[in-house]
Amino acid sequence: MDKFKKEIAQKISKVIDIPEQEIESYIEVPKESTKGDYAFPCFRLAKELKKAPPLIAQEISEKLQIKESTIEKIEVVGGYINFFINKVELAKQILANFSNQGEYGSSKKGKDKNVVIDYSAPNIAKPFHIGHLRTTAIGGALYNIYKYLGYNAIGLNYLGDYGTQFGKLIEGYKRWGEEYNIDENPINELMEIYIRINKLCKEDEKVLEACRENFKKLEDGDPYCIELWEKFKKVSIKEFQKVYDLLGSKFDSWDGEATIAPKAKEIIKILEENGTITESQGAKIVDLENEGINTPCMIQKSDGSTTYASRDLAAIMHRAKTYDFDKALYVTSYEQVLHFKQVFVVAKHLGIDEKYVKGLEHVSYGMVMLPTGKMSTREGKIIKIEDLLEESINRAEATIALKNPNLENRKELAKKVGIGAVIFNILATSTVKDIIFDWDAALNFQGETGPYVQYTYVRTQSVLEKAGYIPEIAEIKFEKLTDEYSQGVLKLIYKFEEILEQVTEKEEPSILTRYLLDLAKAYSSFYNENKIIGEDEEIQNSRIYLTRATGEVLKIGAKLLGIQMPEKM
Ligand code: ARG
Repeated sequence: MDKFKKEIAQKISKVIDIPEQEIESYIEVPKESTKGDYAFPCFRLAKELKKAPPLIAQEISEKLQIKESTIEKIEVVGGYINFFINKVELAKQILANFSNQGEYGSSKKGKDKNVVIDYSAPNIAKPFHIGHLRTTAIGGALYNIYKYLGYNAIGLNYLGDYGTQFGKLIEGYKRWGEEYNIDENPINELMEIYIRINKLCKEDEKVLEACRENFKKLEDGDPYCIELWEKFKKVSIKEFQKVYDLLGSKFDSWDGEATIAPKAKEIIKILEENGTITESQGAKIVDLENEGINTPCMIQKSDGSTTYASRDLAAIMHRAKTYDFDKALYVTSYEQVLHFKQVFVVAKHLGIDEKYVKGLEHVSYGMVMLPTGKMSTREGKIIKIEDLLEESINRAEATIALKNPNLENRKELAKKVGIGAVIFNILATSTVKDIIFDWDAALNFQGETGPYVQYTYVRTQSVLEKAGYIPEIAEIKFEKLTDEYSQGVLKLIYKFEEILEQVTEKEEPSILTRYLLDLAKAYSSFYNENKIIGEDEEIQNSRIYLTRATGEVLKIGAKLLGIQMPEKM
């Protein structure tokens, strides 16, 4: 909560007849510090009060009582009233607030609220490609941030482990399994088998029939088919886990589509009984024309098997029962926008509490591309996440070797920098936009990058190390932190909690990523403009304290994004 904003809102609401909370929502933070620390725009009041905004601003400002408050000065500029907070008060409140909190910025906003986050969800026997990197990073960051704000966050890895393709894979394995080294290089080998059997299916109808038969058997619980499917799943997860270990990803549930599939029959029954379903050429569909969606939602295929949509509907029901969610987020690429639109509309007919339907939200993101073009399976230019991360680590190591050849634990450091660079780059762009992944841009120590933020953190730590002590808050003379650069850093530190809340309101981790860049830049200016160690003791103490606070916020923020801070680099 922003105490200064609240104080200003209180004062204004005493003068005009508008509730404090509403006023608070109008108050802005001007971009330039010459326009004050806060501004109240009067434009929205013009219609109601039938007066020009500058006149309203003038009248309100004349009536405002700011004596004995933290507000030092007010100024009317056009339709705005600008507020200047007393700089000493500002420093005092912000740092006192900082020192009081164990986990800085972790409000208890989410207490007793359940949020399920469906993310990553790669497909068994298919490559864990760079598109999945984005859901893994976005979902992981949201998971961490919700948790930090006191929500009961539940991370779901809804594995793509179901579908008719497994009937094909089983057939291929039966025929040629011996020829392939599945344990060594599972995904590649399974892909090869899949391509080969697909080709054969096209040539020979009987083979295709055998594949269908296998899938049916798998659904009916045939032990041999299940054994093979479990093997494919096990080796695939083992390979995915390598990526999760590198990224530090955690999930509370690994129940995939196969776990849900048997429950899909249940929802098909519900939808049939309440007349939501219609038949179309042997398949069961829900017509969504009336909802403004031209493509019907396919619930059951003509061969009787469940669909991606019916499984997702069953999953909603299951998650509502199991987690009693307030929000259910789905992090996937925008290619699934239609799918989730359809599923969320059909969910209204499942007979579940309205609260659950309202809580459904698709967090869709744009593509990840290389400068050379799209990375899609079809064009054969797939990049595996593991390879991308390894390459990033290697490049980081080379840079470190050049910059600081005497550092110990170079490998470990390169891992933090290399992986941090990739995560930061992926999370720096707002989710709706496409990303062009460029090595040089991601790994540049000076640009708007993860390594830059890490480097700034390391700088704060070396200042603290050089000082050799951290003063008590009681020893800080806040009047020593009134210069422009200290104030710039202070205000950003103050904003941290609000930033985290914004991330959860918009499901947009890039807000935090951009914030960390702003804080790192503000600290760099502070560092360049102010001598920290060796000034008089009072100045030194307060600057060290500010350095410490900055370092801590950078570290917490990075951790929430899934990025580790090195202590040296
Ligand atoms: N496995 C799917 C894919 O790779 C993503 C699953 C997303 N989650 C869901 N509940 N549909 O495209």
